[in-house]
Amino acid sequence: MQIGTVKINGHAALAPMAGVADRAMRLICVEFGAAYVVGEMVSSKGLCHGDKKSAELLTLDDAERPAAIQLFGDNPEIMARAATIAMQYKPDIIDINMGCPAPKITGNSSGCALMRSPSLCFDIVSTVSRAVNVPVTAKIRKGFDSNTVNAVEVALACQEGGAAAVTVHGRTRDQMYAPPVDWDIIRKVKESLRIPVIGNGDVNSAKEAARLYELTGCDLIMVGRGALGAPWIFSQIEEYLANGTLLPDPPVPKRMQILLSQVTLAAGLKGERVALLESRRHAAYYMRGLPGAAALRAKAVQIKTLDDLKALCNEVCKLLK
Ligand SMILES: Cc1cc2nc3c(=O)[nH]c(=O)nc-3n(C[C@H](O)[C@H](O)[C@H](O)COP(=O)(O)O)c2cc1C
Repeated sequence: MQIGTVKINGHAALAPMAGVADRAMRLICVEFGAAYVVGEMVSSKGLCHGDKKSAELLTLDDAERPAAIQLFGDNPEIMARAATIAMQYKPDIIDINMGCPAPKITGNSSGCALMRSPSLCFDIVSTVSRAVNVPVTAKIRKGFDSNTVNAVEVALACQEGGAAAVTVHGRTRDQMYAPPVDWDIIRKVKESLRIPVIGNGDVNSAKEAARLYELTGCDLIMVGRGALGAPWIFSQIEEYLANGTLLPDPPVPKRMQILLSQVTLAAGLKGERVALLESRRHAAYYMRGLPGAAALRAKAVQIKTLDDLKALCNEVCKLLK
């Protein structure tokens, strides 16, 4: 499929996940076959005010392309200015966050709060599209709440504003991340739009990926939490869609090796102190479901150095012998 002029070679994209899907995680997912990745959301206001923290969030590695930078905000002109600044980092695509449910974001009329005003969604997409020369996309939810399910209307407004694709997460804002996910809303959006639709929500296995394609007719699927501690989900999806073969998860020692590579990469990119603090969360994801996982997680929260992480990974491998 193609998003505007950007060709996507593969069937599953990595969802933007603030605080977890950093450059290291994205690069590992791409190694396993993620066809497209979206960076952690960046504040349009922060970017326009020269916020230094944004630089690491905005930096894209050539090896992770095609990649999008995602912006959040509620003011079309500020969003457009932020998009122009973000262009220094050479994103292939600019994505607009219209789905974040966090009160900190929606309280500032951003993220999913934008869905309460389809005309503002139109204004933001059209103003940003005029400001940059890469495709602009939007990531929306089913609606703001169960009384205002308007994904089709908002997606149409984005399309009219010039969006090159729309991602739909099949949950309302008040559901946050709780079940059930509604894939049927993705089908309805797909049937209403000319531009590609990316389906998102609760794809945690290759079979679920196939089912989301089948039920919705979407053009691409996007995986978020299913890739946490399991970047190999992308190769499983590709293999299953191509040949119907279900690849097993890698054996535990291999999983620990992948965790170590991801954290070592992150340490090189953002420094050992920050990367190792963040590795506690990643370690817990990679150790999910292992016997004694609760005790391992308790140890993971003590990790301070790469050596601590290596020791924990060795312990996991020994425990399973
Ligand atoms: C920790 C975390 C951070 C997230 N951050 C973002 C974000 O920055 N921008 C965004 O559009 N969505 C964000 N999301 C939502 C995901 O992109 C995705 O829509 C959602 O998790 C549903 O997909 P999944 O069921 O595959 O996880 C985040 C989700 C999680 C769990």
